[in-house]
Order: sequence, then structure tokens, then C-alpha cells
Amino acid sequence: MKRLAVLTSGGDAPGMNAAVRAVVRNTIFHKSKIYGIMRGFSGLVHDEFFEMSLGSVADIIHKGGTILHTARCDEFSTPDGIKKALNNLNKYNIDGLIIIGGDGSFRGALELARLGFCTIGVPGTIDNDVSCTDSSIGFDTAVNTAVDAINKVRDTATSHERTFIIEVMGRDRGDIALHSGIAGGAESILIPEVKTDINDVAKKILKGLDRGKLHSVIIVAEGAGSAFDVGEKITDITGLETRVTVLGHIQRGGSPSAFDRIIASRMGAKAVDLIFEGIKGHMVGVSSTSIAHYDMEFALQQKKEFNFEMLELADILSI
Ligand code: F6P
Repeated sequence: MKRLAVLTSGGDAPGMNAAVRAVVRNTIFHKSKIYGIMRGFSGLVHDEFFEMSLGSVADIIHKGGTILHTARCDEFSTPDGIKKALNNLNKYNIDGLIIIGGDGSFRGALELARLGFCTIGVPGTIDNDVSCTDSSIGFDTAVNTAVDAINKVRDTATSHERTFIIEVMGRDRGDIALHSGIAGGAESILIPEVKTDINDVAKKILKGLDRGKLHSVIIVAEGAGSAFDVGEKITDITGLETRVTVLGHIQRGGSPSAFDRIIASRMGAKAVDLIFEGIKGHMVGVSSTSIAHYDMEFALQQKKEFNFEMLELADILSI
């Protein structure tokens, strides 16, 4: 009988619970023990382990957040922190640790793998910035949350014939902005990957007004700058009144979409299977419609490609 452990780390993402459920149930299916670790790497360092049962993950597949909670833990990156983490893993005789989180969390997983400990990463972050996977758990839900908000803002933008700037999450990554901008029919999408000239955005708004558009919706990823600054600049250039909506952390919560629940269930279960196959230091990823796995060191060296073709499409569709 093996003993596995699971933790969630970094920013939470809708669907993490579905992944935890899949890890717990598939481990028990393999007639093994599974421990949950509270508060990510902090719980690993400070011994917050508890044994999980089939019932402990009942009624969570539809819930946002993570029942294991999450925290940022600087102590883990110190030699003392890693030593404490390894001591705790040995204390509970853990054979394999599954880490659900973004690339920062995978760096922690790799740290342990380099020391010979079996770790498997499952990508969970709304930012969708983990390489070697088409989608990370939570991204689809976050995009749908943003689109729902854009639809609502569009209603009032039309009534008042106004220009709205909507700020979405994504410190270093424009995927939420790009996808929600296309699905929400935005006039312009500003992302950290591309330097956009605000004069071009303003020109496009005026051109739209000329041909009878009643409103404009501009999507700004937080990493591309503050939506308030963008709004002010557009007012300065065009003389138009602007309004700003910052969506913030509502994008991180809420019931996960069916897509996120499904990829979370499949990747969580696959992570367990990999440990039983003797694979370590890998991350699970979803590739097209199949579940794949990659060496974590290789994955961390890759830069997830941004889809510039979609950005061009967004521009063409919003003329
Ligand atoms: O989880 C990713 C993310 O939501 C980013 O898009 C955002 O910049 C960041 O986390 C916010 O982090 P925090 O919740 O710690 O403020």
C-alpha cells in the first residue's frame, strides 16, 4: 500500500476542488492512503497533514476555492524550510506528493523532485500561463465570469452610449483578456505581451462612433496597465466620457465550469496513476482532448506561447 499526499498552492482557481476529489478517490481506488496538506507549502513545512477519506471530498466538485486552502510560503524556498518539508513527508511515509497550482508551485515541486522525492504537478491557475498544457484548471471558468460581466457592462454601455474600460486579471499574461475580449466582442484588448499605442485605441473608438456604434468596450489585462489610466488617456484624446470596471478577485471564485471540472478530474486522476507507474518530477497537461505528461524541468524551461493569431482576429472582428 502506498501513501500519497496532495496540496493546492498559489492563487486559487475554480476546479481545484474537483482535482483534489479526483486525487483522493483515485488513490483510494488503488487501495492506498491519501493525506491532504492544508495551506500549500506552508502546511508542508508546518506539518498540517490529515488523512482524507472518500467522504471528505463529497459535495465539493461544484464548489469554487479549495477545501485545502492555499498560501504563499517564502519559508519553503529556504534550506531549512525544505528540510522541514522533507522531514514531514518522511514522518507520514509519503511515497508521492501531488501539487495543484501554477508555475511557481511547480518550481517547489521540482525542488523536491531534484532531492529524489516523487512529485507530480497538476496545473491550476486562472492565468493559463503554465506551459505544456492547452488549459489550466480555472481558466475556462474565469473567462466565463469575465464574459458574463462584459455582457452586463455592455447593456449599460449601450443605454448610455458610453465607452467602458474593463480590467481583467493577468499580471504577466493576457489570456483572460484575449479570450474574454473575443467572446465579449470587445473593441480593443490590451495585454502585457504587446505594447499597444493608446492613440490607436482612441482612433478605433472614434471610427466606430462615425459608423454608428453606440458604445465601446475595451478590455485591459492588469499587467498591461491600470484601466483607470487607460480611461483617462482615452478621455484626453477623444473627449469622450469613460467608465471603468475592475473585475478583480471575482474571477478567481465561483462554481467551476463543466470544462474545468472535467479537465480537473482527468488530470487529478492521471497524477495518481503516474505515481503508481513510478514516474516522478512530471506535470500533467491537457493536449487537445487527451491527457499528457511532461518532465517538469523541461516544462518549466518552456515559455507558453501566446496566441497572437487570436489577437489579430479580435482586431479584425471589432472593426
Ligand atoms: O492567480 C493568478 C492571479 O489571479 C493573477 O492574475 C493576479 O495578478 C494575482 O493572482 C493576484 O494575486 P493575489 O490574490 O495574491 O493578490
